[in-house]
Formats: sequence, C-alpha cells, structure tokens
Amino acid sequence: MGNKKIHIITFGCQMNVHDTERMRMIMKQEGYDWSESPDDADLILLNTCSVREGPENKVHSQLGRLKPLKEKNKELLFGVTGCVAQQKGKELLKQISYLDLVVGTDAIASLPNVVKKVKETGKPVVQTEFQDNSEYEFVELDINYNFSKFSDFVTIMKGCNKRCSYCIVPYVRGREVSRPVEDILKEIEMMAQKGVKEITLLGQTVNSYRYQGIDFASLLYKINDINGIERVRFTSPHPKYFTEPVMDAIAELDKVMEHIHYPLQSGSNEVLKHMRRQYSAELYLSQIAYMKKKMPQLEITTDIIVGYPTETDADFEETLKIMKEVEFDNSFSFLYSPRPMTAIYDLDDPIPEEEKKERLHKLKELQEEISISRTSKLIGSIQEVLIEDEGDGRNKNQFSGRSRGNRKVFIDDIGEYKLGDIVKVKVISGSVHALKGEII
Ligand code: SAH
Ligand code: SF4
Ligand code: F3S
Repeated sequence: MGNKKIHIITFGCQMNVHDTERMRMIMKQEGYDWSESPDDADLILLNTCSVREGPENKVHSQLGRLKPLKEKNKELLFGVTGCVAQQKGKELLKQISYLDLVVGTDAIASLPNVVKKVKETGKPVVQTEFQDNSEYEFVELDINYNFSKFSDFVTIMKGCNKRCSYCIVPYVRGREVSRPVEDILKEIEMMAQKGVKEITLLGQTVNSYRYQGIDFASLLYKINDINGIERVRFTSPHPKYFTEPVMDAIAELDKVMEHIHYPLQSGSNEVLKHMRRQYSAELYLSQIAYMKKKMPQLEITTDIIVGYPTETDADFEETLKIMKEVEFDNSFSFLYSPRPMTAIYDLDDPIPEEEKKERLHKLKELQEEISISRTSKLIGSIQEVLIEDEGDGRNKNQFSGRSRGNRKVFIDDIGEYKLGDIVKVKVISGSVHALKGEII
C-alpha cells in the first residue's frame, strides 16, 4: 500500500489559498501525498469562504457532487475547513450527514489530530476554537516542504479589528494578531534559499501590521534587504494605515512592486460612512495622487461593492466618477450580499434586484473600457517579467509570468531563459488585462 492521499478544494481569497498550502504541508508531514483529483483521495477537504452567500452555498453543492466517492471508498474522509467551518461549526454536521470533520480558521495545525480522532472513534469531530491571541501560534514553514514555485505567500498578520458593516471576515477570522517580525524574516529567508523570487505579504488590513514597534513600512525595509527575494507584493492595504512612510517605502524600495490592490468599496462618502470604512473618498484620492506622483507607472486594482442597501443612484454615480478619475487597471465588483453576524444583516434593503444588477453591469462595462485604455498605453513599453508558467492555456509552448505591475504577460519564446528567471520584455499586443511580449 502506498501513502494516503489528500485533495483540497479551495474557495475564497489568497489567505485561503495559502491556508490550503499550509494544510497540504502539515498533512505531508503525516504521510499524506497530494492528489490532483478527488477520485483517488483518502481525505477530501473543502477550504471554504463565507464572504458572500454564493461561495458559501458552493460547500453544499460541491459535497453533494463528491458524495458518490464515499460510497465507493468507505475509508474516505470528508472535511470542511476555512471560513464556513468557522462560521457554522457543529451546524454543518447536522446539515451534511456524511461529513467527518470541521476545522476552523485558527485550528489548521490540529488537522492531523482531528483526522486521528475521527479514525479512532469513527465519529465526526469539530474543532473551531479561536486561539488565545496573547499566545497565538502561526503555522511555521517546514524547510523540507517541497517548493515548486517562484512566488509564494507570507502571512504577516491574522484576523481583522475593523467592523465594516457588511463584512463577516472579523467573525470568522477573529481579532487581529501581528506575527513576530523575526519569524516573518526567517520564513522569507528560507523561501529565498529554496528559489522563491517573489513573495506576497498577507493580511486583511496588511498595513496595520505592528510588532514591538516595527510597523508595516519598517517591515518592508527589512524584507527588501533579504538576498534572493527580488519582488515584494502585499494584500490588502487599508486607507487608514496608508501613511506617508508606507507610501514612501513602496515608492523607494526597488523590490516592492508597482502594483497595489487597494479596495475602495464605494466612491460615495455617505456609503463609506455607513459601511464604517473609516476613510473618505477624498483621502483615498489624495493617497492615490501622492503615489502616482512618485510612481507614474503604478498599477492599481480595487474591490467594489455594488447595491449596498443605502446606495442611491447619486452614490453609485460617485463610484463611477472615482473609477474614471483613478483609472483602475482592474476591479473586482460584487453585488452586496447580507451576511449573518454583521451589523447590517437585518437592514432594510429597498433597492430592487434588477436595479442592482443594472448598476453592476454598468460598472463592469466602464471598468472594461478603462482596462482596455490602460492596456493600450502599455503596448510598446518594456516590462520586467518573472517567468512562472509553461504551456498556459491552449498554446503548449507558450510561457507566462507577471509584470511588476502584476499584469499577466505571455511570451512565445524564452530562448536560453528558464522558469524563475526575470526578463525584460517588449510588449507587442494586449487584451483587456493580459499582455503579450517578446524578450529583448
Ligand atoms: N480586508 C479587505 C477585504 C476582504 S473581503 C479590505 O478591507 O479591503 C474581500 C472583498 O469582498 C471586499 O473587499 C469586499 O469588496 C467584498 N465583500 C465583503 N463582504 C461583502 C458582502 N457582504 N457583500 C458583497 N461583497 C463583500
Ligand atoms: Fe472585512 Fe472591513 Fe476587515 Fe476588510 S477591513 S476584512 S472589509 S471588516
Ligand atoms: Fe472568504 Fe474567509 Fe477570505 S470569508 S474572503 S476566505 S477570509
């Protein structure tokens, strides 16, 4: 008999993508190999997201689809992890009779024990306690873990201390804890040793990082000094902590890339206030202006919520106005979705569904127009690209990577270069978001 196998299906944000990697690492230490398909796995986990109703519902449809595998393999275990696990805990066992384990967002490290307990007792196990924040333990990277990539995530903080009116994240990720600076640096050094070229720092309000007097700007300076790491990204910054020192650090440090994902949510001050976002449209715009002045090549992406219950036509127009002014390279726009536990869950929502969809459509159309115009300005430019993938899409011989501004760039011929190299590329054409270029 060979090793046991694990398969994890991931929903949600980059934090979840990273948690999946860490669960994979932890279970590897227990002898579980990765399985590309659920069909021959012994343990299938759904790492879930509850930020909107849509992703939450996927848990049930996915598990339903996988259920027949359980009938074929009596040993197979099903688990739900991540934000829906944290949100619903035991309730999930009632809803899904064939579920074996539920592991919350703070309990990833206990996954092996939970699996053992399920096997010993033959009964489902739920582990959704939050850790005590004063002695919070982040999952540390195992140097023997098999790296296969040039770009990796580094958690610098967990949880969120904000209470945006619409958002479930603080309730499913707990309160904010900044990770010790020495652990962050050690992890990045280990990654560098293993050939990682680019890191993305993760946190719900990543720039509110503070550990024993080290703030986000100082952390960026320290990371910039690590040999081997060529590129630093981070997500998601919050305007309240986008101070001048932070903006200056981003502009000055050559390893910090010229891209920020900067969630706006709404362009209307009335809506922002109701959302409890703690910034005004003016502050957001002044920060963007400051950064663009220092970094004319800066690319900016954002998140926007459309159809917030108090959003009027005029409020929505404000959002469109700010989009035109900033000229976002891309935006991720979502229809407002009421979430349990949040402050406005029960708030009257007078906007007809049709109206909301129309606004979303209008916003997406505007974004596409802006994105095309932004792309066209890059044609003919020279971009620095980290080559990460081979055989992307339909063209087996094509290579692809990301520019400093985080654009996907396709390259047909990389000559003597190999995956993991950083090359200079001349952009020859572009689609809405991606570019095509030739190495120079
Ligand atoms: N911490 C990040 C956002 C994390 S959630 C920040 O503060 O910017 C990711 C995105 O999901 C948010 O930016 C928001 O646009 C969207 N979102 C969160 N709650 C939502 C809800 N109830 N309905 C619709 N979109 C939501
Ligand atoms: Fe949610 Fe607001 Fe925290 Fe972002 S800052 S995770 S939107 S509560
Ligand atoms: Fe979703 Fe949890 Fe991320 S709710 S957006 S997976 S923090």
